[in-house]
Formats: sequence, C-alpha cells, structure tokens
Amino acid sequence: MCGGGATVKAAVLGAGGQVGRALLAAIPTGVEADPLPRCALDIAECAALEETLERLQPDVVINAAGYTAVDRAEVEQDLAFAANARGVAHLANACARRRIRLVHLSTDHVFDGKASRPYGTGDACAPINFYGYSKLAGERAVGAHPYALVVRTSRIYSRHGRNFVRAVIERFREARAVHAVRDQFAAPTSAPCLARYLWRVALRPEITGVRHWTDAGEASWYDWACAIRAEAMALGLLTHAAEPIPVNSVDYPTAAQRPCYSVLDTERSACEIDLEPLPWRTGLRAVLAQMQYESRSPAALGLSGRS
Ligand SMILES: NC(=O)c1ccc[n+]([C@@H]2O[C@H](COP(=O)([O-])OP(=O)(O)OC[C@H]3O[C@@H](n4cnc5c(N)ncnc54)[C@H](OP(=O)(O)O)[C@@H]3O)[C@@H](O)[C@H]2O)c1
Repeated sequence: MCGGGATVKAAVLGAGGQVGRALLAAIPTGVEADPLPRCALDIAECAALEETLERLQPDVVINAAGYTAVDRAEVEQDLAFAANARGVAHLANACARRRIRLVHLSTDHVFDGKASRPYGTGDACAPINFYGYSKLAGERAVGAHPYALVVRTSRIYSRHGRNFVRAVIERFREARAVHAVRDQFAAPTSAPCLARYLWRVALRPEITGVRHWTDAGEASWYDWACAIRAEAMALGLLTHAAEPIPVNSVDYPTAAQRPCYSVLDTERSACEIDLEPLPWRTGLRAVLAQMQYESRSPAALGLSGRS
C-alpha cells in the first residue's frame, strides 16, 4: 500500500473529534489525508457515505467518528446505535466492496470489567452499558470486512474536546472540589500517542482483526486526577488546587455502569509494529505542556470540557 513512493490517500472520519484532530496533526510523509468532520459526512447517512467514498477513492479510511457520550447513550440509544453500529456496518460494507482498507476505533467498554489481569483481544466481550453494546455491534460488523482492523483503546484525552483532563483542570481553576472514583482502573491514553499507532497500522494492510492500543500502565480516575494536579502545577498551568477527593463507585452513581477493571493488553500490538506504548503519565505531561504552551489564558483555551 505504501510501497514504491506512491502517495497513499486516506480519509479521516470524525475529523473534528479528539482522535480525528490528532490524526490530522500527525499525517505521515507519503500520505494525503481528507478530513471528514461530521458536518462533511454523517456516518449514519448511507447515501452520503457511498457518494463520499466514490468521490474521494481513498486507499484507507480511518474511522474516528463515534457517539461517545457514555452516560447519555443510555437514553439516546437510537443515536448511539446509528453512529456506532448501523453506520459502521454501512461503512465496513462500502469499504469492503471497494477493497478499501478500514481502521475502526473501539473501546474497553466492550468488556464487563470483572478481570484481574489485562484483557487480551480474544477475551470474551460482555458490555455492561449501552455505549459498549453499540460499539461491540460495530466491531462485529467490521469483522465481515477482510482488510479491516478494529483498534480498542481507553480513556482518550487531548488538549481539545470533552475529556477528563480538561474537565478536571477547569474544576481546579474554578476552585471546585474534584471527586474522583478510586475503584475503576484503565489506561489513560493521549490522542497524539494513539494517532501515532493508528497511522502506523493504517499503512500495514496485512494487520487485520482486533488489536488493543493504549498508553502504558493503569490508573483509577482518582490516580489520574492526582497526576493531572501534580503535573499541571509543575508546569505552571495551575497555581493552586486542592487535593482531589477519592470516592467509591457505589457512592458516585452514573447513568451508565462502568467496568471496574478494563486495562487492555497491548503486548502483541507493540511487538508486531515495534512501537512501545509510552507510560500514561508521560503522555499526560506532553498534553498538559501543549496546553500550557498554546495559551496561558483559560478563555483562550476555551475550557469547557467534561468527563
Ligand atoms: N473518548 C474516549 O475515552 C474513548 C475511549 C475508547 C474508545 N473511544 C472511541 O474512539 C473514537 C474516537 O473517540 P474521540 O475521543 O475522538 O471522540 P470525540 O472527541 O467525541 O469525537 C467523535 C467525533 O465523532 C463525531 N460523530 C458523532 N456522531 C457522528 C456521526 N453520526 N457521523 C459522523 N461523525 C459523528 C463527533 O461529532 P460531534 O462532536 O459533532 O458529535 C466527534 O467529532 C470513537 O469511536 C470512540 O468510541 C473513545
């Protein structure tokens, strides 16, 4: 696909989201990428999808579009299913018919979180919320495409968009208490680190099936909030902030249940492309440093994120 010096044409769906933006900021040499934010292509619109693929004729599609509001998905099930399952089925089918490579993002929420060791790609899926259920349905639809790859990841954040890091920084800045759950563990994953992996595998069409990719290590929401506070203070992004307050999930009810332990085993993925995941705290430091560099004013940062 990338041999002979020819340009690879890529289409990035969900180009306005955290991962989409990180992908566009890291386009490798020899790749021409068409950004497709939701306003340019709604993945749930079958005809628009066909027309776009026909017009752009990409060699590879990276699908970073998705309905990602985990709690709202419990009540907006139709919307979540349309984007994460039905739209993905159309996409997989349309790409397969045209022999277009497809890289699709999925989630640790396909697992029930009852494990006590990192989940392998072959472990049984048993989602405990509607978001996970809709993403699993999307994965299964992609499974019918012979040149497709599903990449499961967890707890994405970046300097843009709605995410835990931006929400916590905002609360610290407003001197509001930060309560964080201490008994749910996964790997925080920076969108720029994930984008590097995604481009690497997008250009390796022989890598198909399901892979796991996250930053290295694991953390509870509480561990993560403490690290955000410490790193942001060290960088001067925060001048003072109260210590986060640990809470148990039973004392912090949310509309959607979340897995208690959803660390993903990335060893196979790392070996096959010779890329080690960065420790999650290193990824965090880099994103906070970018936030610090870009602006010292909260207004310019446009902080309005939530977890
Ligand atoms: N965020 C996480 O912690 C996390 C963890 C594991 C896996 N993932 C998966 O990783 C992928 C990217 O996540 P992200 O963090 O970049 O999410 P994000 O920031 O919410 O971006 C998702 C993008 O998809 C767009 N979108 C939603 N419905 C769409 C539709 N019907 N057609 C076209 N675009 C649509 C959204 O547009 P609007 O903003 O206009 O709705 C948004 O720009 C998703 O598949 C997600 O399920 C995310």
